[in-house]
Amino acid sequence: MTFNPDRYSTMPYRRCGKSGIKLPAISLGLWQNFGDIDIKDVFRESLFTAFDHGITHFDLANNYGPSEGSAEQNFGDILQTDFRGYRDELLISTKAGYTMWAGPYGDWGSRKYLMASIHQSLKRMKLDYVDIFYHHRPDPNTALEETMKTLHDIVQQGKALYVGLSNYPPDVAKRAVHILKALGTPCLIHQHKYSMLVRIPEEGLLEMLREKEIGAIAFSPLAQGLLTDKYLSGVPAGSRASREHFLKSTAITAELVMLLTQLNELALQRGQTLAQMAIAWLLKDTGLTSVLVGVRNREQVLSSLKALENLHFTREELNHITAILAAV
Ligand SMILES: NC(=O)c1ccc[n+]([C@@H]2O[C@H](COP(=O)([O-])OP(=O)(O)OC[C@H]3O[C@@H](n4cnc5c(N)ncnc54)[C@H](OP(=O)(O)O)[C@@H]3O)[C@@H](O)[C@H]2O)c1
Repeated sequence: MTFNPDRYSTMPYRRCGKSGIKLPAISLGLWQNFGDIDIKDVFRESLFTAFDHGITHFDLANNYGPSEGSAEQNFGDILQTDFRGYRDELLISTKAGYTMWAGPYGDWGSRKYLMASIHQSLKRMKLDYVDIFYHHRPDPNTALEETMKTLHDIVQQGKALYVGLSNYPPDVAKRAVHILKALGTPCLIHQHKYSMLVRIPEEGLLEMLREKEIGAIAFSPLAQGLLTDKYLSGVPAGSRASREHFLKSTAITAELVMLLTQLNELALQRGQTLAQMAIAWLLKDTGLTSVLVGVRNREQVLSSLKALENLHFTREELNHITAILAAV
């Protein structure tokens, strides 16, 4: 398989904290639409289109599917075939921290679970190492020292190059970052839910990451598809809300549609779709290293990439957005 030789010319790459690593401003996550219930040709096309346009970072987790593990398995197959020869141009992350298998050793943050999980992930993806291994969520019942030492050991064993944290509140993240630093494996990046509709990271997390010079990557930047024009007049067939899996159709209230309609009008005035404006809004400041999008098809990849054509917001536009969002 050959890719566009100009694929690195349009994508901006942002340094991840003070590390040597740069991430594409837009990264692609395989949480949904890449499992064994999905159509292989469709997700293959999404992956090719992404890489062909400079998206070098692909984000997985042990439990992505469904079924759990199948996104890693499918991605591993593509690495072996179509992406063969490109491993060193790709930045691949995986995670463990949510329920993966039955019993007391298939969840949370014990050494037992994390060590077994990274072995399984490498096997499914047919890789010697991942670039980033994340602890997926904090474990209130395991000492932070145990979890962080395990992340450090995973790097020492050559199974991951860097480690990251996900869904950690600022105070726990700060302690974890401190432990990792003392062990000699600095935390590369933190991954958190962040969008126009979910602004919790602004309450201390982003500031802490900036201070510690750690990368920040936002997941669900479109609030799972809510920040698009697709729900302005109902729930279209095939959409995430129509599948009632992680996004329930009951989330689409009349108040939300009114708010989305106003945001959509502003996006159109900017010459963007609402999805493009939502991505641009996250990338407008340099504080965020990357925005981690999910896609159902190649067209969504191409459409989201167009967000990069206008990351600038006037003061009036920002004030207008703040006023619209104040209604949430
Ligand atoms: N660390 C964690 O705990 C965690 C949790 C969640 C996600 N993540 C990561 O973040 C990634 C992204 O999450 P997400 O899938 O929720 O992100 P998202 O980008 O907010 O939502 C993706 C959905 O938005 C719609 N969409 C995407 N691009 C579009 C476009 N250009 N125009 C119109 N609609 C568009 C599609 O919905 P339809 O299918 O309805 O068309 C797509 O399935 C995941 O794959 C995963 O890697 C991490």
